[in-house]
Amino acid sequence: MTLICPVCGSPLTPEPARYLCTKNHSFDRAKSGYVNLLMRQKHRQRGDDTAMLAARRDFLDQGFYLPLLDAVAEAIPQNTETLADIGCGEGWYSCGLLKRFSAASLAGFDISPDAVRYAAQRAKAENTAARSCWAVASVNHIPLADESCRCILNLFAPCEPAEFARILAKDGLLIRAVPLERHLWELKCAVYDEPYENRPVLAAPEGFTLISQKALRYPINVSGDALHTLFAMTPYAHKTARSDAAKLDALTSLTVTVEFGVLICKKQ
Ligand SMILES: C[S@@+](CC[C@H](N)C(=O)[O-])C[C@H]1O[C@@H](n2cnc3c(N)ncnc32)[C@H](O)[C@@H]1O
Ligand SMILES: [Zn+2]
Repeated sequence: MTLICPVCGSPLTPEPARYLCTKNHSFDRAKSGYVNLLMRQKHRQRGDDTAMLAARRDFLDQGFYLPLLDAVAEAIPQNTETLADIGCGEGWYSCGLLKRFSAASLAGFDISPDAVRYAAQRAKAENTAARSCWAVASVNHIPLADESCRCILNLFAPCEPAEFARILAKDGLLIRAVPLERHLWELKCAVYDEPYENRPVLAAPEGFTLISQKALRYPINVSGDALHTLFAMTPYAHKTARSDAAKLDALTSLTVTVEFGVLICKKQ
């Protein structure tokens, strides 16, 4: 897929050490292959930090969320050639889907440079680098041309409907995954005296029509270090008092419910 220049909007050509646009705007390419196309932001957003990303990578690599990857793959039409993963994180879903859709190419974007670096490294390690490109970019300003993508993946990441509609081809699909009310409930109960339920938004974003919606709910048995890793990859890791988080030390294993909503939406 062709990235576009965040300054002038013309196509970027990948070279070994940089991306160059037709108007000579140049962007360094990291050793792992990704490029930083994030323009100065009015309100600085950082995205997920290194510890959270490393935890997510370790946890996802253990396969606990494979049923969700399957559900997302099922939602993608077989003949899809162009995918964009917005808020791709460390690239477990992106690369997993590239392996299942061998004729597709994918552009992965995240506002966190660490996330994109991990994703680019994963693509190299999993032999999907030739069909993928990775850029640090915000959901508000995606460096892809208008109507250049058939399917957007937006998994547990911020949603920007107008920007998604701009880059999606006519009749293109938006696939969202969101945590449902009691996602990780037992983990929350183990840590908090008064856990609260999530409040998922299960409607189609503006400019999209919901064509199907699926709830995926199953227990996972998490033991030892994986329990801490699971906690560390969630936003709770930063919001929880040390004394509460330490309650996990007393557990050797825990059966935890995971609950996801998968929404398939079509551009209107
Ligand atoms: C909960 S993680 C999900 C990552 C990945 N989709 C997954 O499911 O493993 C949310 C991701 O959104 C990214 N993010 C947060 N704000 C963003 C923004 N404004 N633009 C792009 N990405 C953003 C974070 O850095 C993080 O990697
Ligand atoms: Zn340019």
